Amino acid sequence: MTKTIFVLNGPNLNLLGTREPDQYGKTTLADIETMARETARELGYAVEFRQSNHEGVLVDWIQEAGTTAAGLVINPAAYTHTSVALHDAIRALAIPAVEIHLSNVHAREAFRAHSYVSPVADGVICGFGAHSYTLGIRALVSKL
Ligand code: DQA
Repeated sequence: MTKTIFVLNGPNLNLLGTREPDQYGKTTLADIETMARETARELGYAVEFRQSNHEGVLVDWIQEAGTTAAGLVINPAAYTHTSVALHDAIRALAIPAVEIHLSNVHAREAFRAHSYVSPVADGVICGFGAHSYTLGIRALVSKL
């Protein structure tokens, strides 16, 4: 059976394509899902791709990944900068986790430079637009 990588997306990422295109580009989340599936398939993995605007739903999905997936790629979006709950959920995982962002969060407002997720992620990729997802999947697979 093909092993699965969970690719989880936090709040407002459903708006990609129309949301701040100067910052996030014009690629939609559906386009990114297609790119993620292609990259994972090339590497021999299936992808479970989800988005939620709700912190607790993301916690549930991280826990689900922990029992069903080979690894996790997550763009926690704004919860990156606020969520102890996501920190704790990722900390509890026995599978590798990669944090990704479309934008370079270190080149933006000061509040985006702090991440609650980075200390419990295996690695972080940011600043490569939609390619942060494909790079994140490749980086994750290198840990599997
Ligand atoms: C983001 C960066 C976050 O600071 C922001 O809140 C997002 C998107 C990114 O992918 O660049 O919603 O995670």
